[in-house]
Amino acid sequence: MSDSARNDSSLRGYYRWHAKFYDVTRWAFLFGRRGLIEAVASQLAAPARILEVGCGTGKNLVALAGAFPEAKITGLDLSSDMLDCARVKIAPFADRIELLHRPYDGPVAHEDEKFELIVISYALSMINPGFDEVIRLCRGDLREGGFIAVVDFHETRWTWFRQWMGVNHVRMEGQILAQLDAGFETIVRQIGQGYGGLWRYLTFVGK
Ligand SMILES: C[S@@+](CC[C@H](N)C(=O)[O-])C[C@H]1O[C@@H](n2cnc3c(N)ncnc32)[C@H](O)[C@@H]1O
Repeated sequence: MSDSARNDSSLRGYYRWHAKFYDVTRWAFLFGRRGLIEAVASQLAAPARILEVGCGTGKNLVALAGAFPEAKITGLDLSSDMLDCARVKIAPFADRIELLHRPYDGPVAHEDEKFELIVISYALSMINPGFDEVIRLCRGDLREGGFIAVVDFHETRWTWFRQWMGVNHVRMEGQILAQLDAGFETIVRQIGQGYGGLWRYLTFVGK
């Protein structure tokens, strides 16, 4: 088994349990998700097709459907347990949100159906190894001039906290922003703080 396949399998196991209480706990520390969609909506008028990589329980899919009423939206995730939660949440938008159960390890879009916007919210920090390959794949799944929008953990100066987040499959070493900077023209780039500086999180919109 490759290191990527091992990480995918480990995340599936993690979310088998965590899917049960994901929505009632994560609001307290996955900061910036609503702000990311507001930031994109202020820059991008009416995307026809949107992909969220690692859509989880579907919170962002519903927010995207509200922000972009004309868009067809695809949510992709490797965890069937997380997608089961998402399926309930997106039911009112089932005519224009589809769910894909698979890891993001190859292209999603056909040549004539590429995305105008790809959103990745708190997934890249968990894709280790392979987050850089995911960013590269986005380039291929985006139309010319398409937008990428990312919110995620950035880094922490506290070793104990970095180790604790590692136990929860999160790598918090500032590794993501450098790859986004290298791959995309920056439109929005912000660093926010969680709990008075215990960690920093990034918001990035690029094209
Ligand atoms: C912290 S959750 C974020 C969920 C959602 N985006 C949010 O903001 O609430 C990370 C999600 O990414 C998914 N994920 C991790 N690695 C993935 C991969 N390689 N391909 C697809 N999904 C992945 C996990 O299964 C999980 O549902």
